[in-house]
Amino acid sequence: MQSALTPGLFITFEGGEGVGKSTQTALLADALRAQGFQVTVTREPGGTPMAETLRGLLLDPAHDLDPMEQVLLLNAARHSHVRQVIAPALAAGDVVICDRFIDSTRAYQGAAGGIDGQVITDLHRLVFGDLMPVLTVVLDAPVETGLRRAADRAAATDRFETADRAFHERLRQGFLAIAAAEPVRCQVIAADAPASDIAQSVLAFVEPRVWS
Ligand code: TMP
Repeated sequence: MQSALTPGLFITFEGGEGVGKSTQTALLADALRAQGFQVTVTREPGGTPMAETLRGLLLDPAHDLDPMEQVLLLNAARHSHVRQVIAPALAAGDVVICDRFIDSTRAYQGAAGGIDGQVITDLHRLVFGDLMPVLTVVLDAPVETGLRRAADRAAATDRFETADRAFHERLRQGFLAIAAAEPVRCQVIAADAPASDIAQSVLAFVEPRVWS
């Protein structure tokens, strides 16, 4: 499996529901392409046909999946995604921007879902070695704000959007704890601001690293 020591740069966006990750992923990709970088944009769960199929299964509340089953499915999807998309793009020297990765598993299935975070980390190491994002933007908003935005986009029907408020509060605290534990890799940015202001903050965090 691909090691972190590749010519490319692996960046992830993380956060709870409705924090604006997709918008910020696209804005960062545009800004870096304008500076001449080759950028691959992708998302999890997903990024390959098989992983997109697993995404549908994972998010469909009609399937009775406990948090450990979710972790195992997510890792199968992630393996396909890393093998077919992320590792080749990093090896080719691309900036890879991924909307969610391992920190979402730690926060959703770990902090919010109750799976021991060490189990999630150990499994990741076993399957993916030292492949980790170099930079992670954690978009943070109060739970009400995020859920309202997610509901404005579409009726909340998926497994996590329909989870209770306590789940979303544990989720938010989970992301904040990850960022606090890894302050060099992670930057928390308040998501209840205009998209252009958030994009400026993201660039201020990322630019010094892409040019170094
Ligand atoms: P999103 O792309 O709209 O954020 O939807 C992806 C959903 O999948 C979101 O509810 C979070 C969930 N998810 C997990 O629960 N664990 C994970 O490891 C990942 C990558 C996503």
